[in-house]
Amino acid sequence: MTAFAVETRALTKKFGDFTAVNDVTLQIEQGSVYGFLGPNGSGKSTTIRMLCGLLAPTSGEGLVLGMRLPQDGQKLKRRIGYMSQKFSLYQTLSVVENLNLYAGLYEIRGRDRKARIQEMLELAGLQDRRRELAGELSGGLRQRLALGCSILHRPEILFLDEPTSGVDPKARLHFWDIIYNLAADGTTVMVTTHFMDEAEHCDQVAFISFGQLIADDSPENLKSSIPGRLYEVDGGKGMEMVKALRGNAKQVLDAYPFGEKLHVLVPPEVTLSDEGIFSGARLTEIAPTMEDVFVFLVKEQADRNAAIVSGVGEDE
Ligand SMILES: Nc1ncnc2c1ncn2[C@@H]1O[C@H](COP(=O)(O)OP(=O)(O)OP(=O)(O)O)[C@@H](O)[C@H]1O
Ligand SMILES: [Mg+2]
Repeated sequence: MTAFAVETRALTKKFGDFTAVNDVTLQIEQGSVYGFLGPNGSGKSTTIRMLCGLLAPTSGEGLVLGMRLPQDGQKLKRRIGYMSQKFSLYQTLSVVENLNLYAGLYEIRGRDRKARIQEMLELAGLQDRRRELAGELSGGLRQRLALGCSILHRPEILFLDEPTSGVDPKARLHFWDIIYNLAADGTTVMVTTHFMDEAEHCDQVAFISFGQLIADDSPENLKSSIPGRLYEVDGGKGMEMVKALRGNAKQVLDAYPFGEKLHVLVPPEVTLSDEGIFSGARLTEIAPTMEDVFVFLVKEQADRNAAIVSGVGEDE
């Protein structure tokens, strides 16, 4: 029995000539919350669909709960939960009818069915709305109902594909409370998100870009892997500063807008001061956030790819 809930080796998916998932090797510890981040179209959903046994890999290997992909896909389905990017709810059915439908799909019957549905209504905070149509619920409630439907059969691992997109911050927090409780009870959770604050709270975070895994570590380790010093620049001449900074590769590793402010990454020996192009701005040295990690990794990969295209840097 493997200690990992998920293990892949060189997992690859091609659609025709296009490689959507490229040589992905990863491991997910049992009972952990694993965040899966990446820009639009980077291969997150495709990876998850392979791990759920919905899509056969073109090459490479995958083990989920010790079962092989795609051969054991059928057996696997009973032991995993999957909430797809477009929640699969029946809009014209009520809350309880949706849960009943999923209970039927998982062949949960009799007293057990009643108890599990009640449990899900409580978990999702939908007890008083059991008769309302799924299509008439708010985004946050619909999301919790979709989650309830996907864990009715008590899966050992749960795959959540952008479960919180389009949901307000309060509903997101409520949703994450449920996720933590599931993980505390031993469920492994793999979750894709575009929200960096959510990534911050995962045990492990992987970044995928152009189908390739470019980082996979704990949030603390990822943050400490950024080289140099990071400054926050408040005020000053905005984009003019970015242009000037980007032209100064020796002093500046990267400069990018961050909300209303500007983040500037410099080599460890460089100290920025509020003179010259920074006049009128306030400079503060700060600790990187997961968003800075994301910006850094994507840039690093772009630089690497550019170097390969121009034929330099490969053997360094
Ligand atoms: N069935 C398919 N046939 C052809 N191309 C596909 C298919 N499914 C996905 N792709 C392509 O593979 C790439 C990866 O798609 P995927 O849906 O995995 O990305 P994603 O990271 O989940 O993006 P998003 O953040 O937008 O959900 C995209 O370029 C997409 O167009
Ligand atoms: Mg997706």
